[in-house]
Amino acid sequence: MELESGERRGYIIRRFKESDLDRVIYINRRCLPENYTPDFFLYHYREFPDGFLVAEIDGTVVGYIMTRIDRGGILPQPFSREFGKVKGHVISLAVMPHARRRGIAESLMREAIQNIRSRGVKEVYLEVRVTNNPAINLYRKLGFKVVNVLRRYYADGEDAYVMSLRMD
Ligand SMILES: CC(C)(COP(=O)(O)OP(=O)(O)OC[C@H]1O[C@@H](n2cnc3c(N)ncnc32)[C@H](O)[C@@H]1OP(=O)(O)O)[C@@H](O)C(=O)NCCC(=O)NCCS
Repeated sequence: MELESGERRGYIIRRFKESDLDRVIYINRRCLPENYTPDFFLYHYREFPDGFLVAEIDGTVVGYIMTRIDRGGILPQPFSREFGKVKGHVISLAVMPHARRRGIAESLMREAIQNIRSRGVKEVYLEVRVTNNPAINLYRKLGFKVVNVLRRYYADGEDAYVMSLRMD
């Protein structure tokens, strides 16, 4: 369904392949200050292949989304209400500037959320810079709500909103 509507608009959404790695790293560095090692990308792909998707126009990857499924944190906090909760987590999302505003990020998000949901997970969350209005608008459009503010979350000192989508 998503795929067809994307195809009509000139792009396809498909699962990441290891041969996409260099291009995804290029897009990440071109679009975001938060950059990761090749191993970080491959680790997430191998852990949850359906959660790592790319968008392609005429055979060229122009955007990606990388997600994971968090299982209550690496360091459990037994007294936290969040302890043990399984949640989808959007780690990184970017679309090349020339390919923006045609629904690609929205399609990547919808498909990744669907794949998270098909694992029986009932909530997806993400962090976003408080000044990143394009991304905040996208997440609100999909039903995400701000549930927390993380002060000085980013390396340059900017705050993050934590936004969450519940799918009960
Ligand atoms: C945020 C980003 C991924 C959006 O990608 P995109 O493919 O252009 O987004 P879409 O075309 O799917 O837009 C879907 C919705 O997002 C919102 N949106 C997207 N770009 C927007 C902009 N420049 N200004 C305001 N709202 C915007 C709108 O609500 C839009 O819906 P609409 O077209 O019905 O108005 C892209 O701008 C990007 O890569 N930015 C740099 C990296 C980044 O910020 N990543 C997210 C980090 S949390």
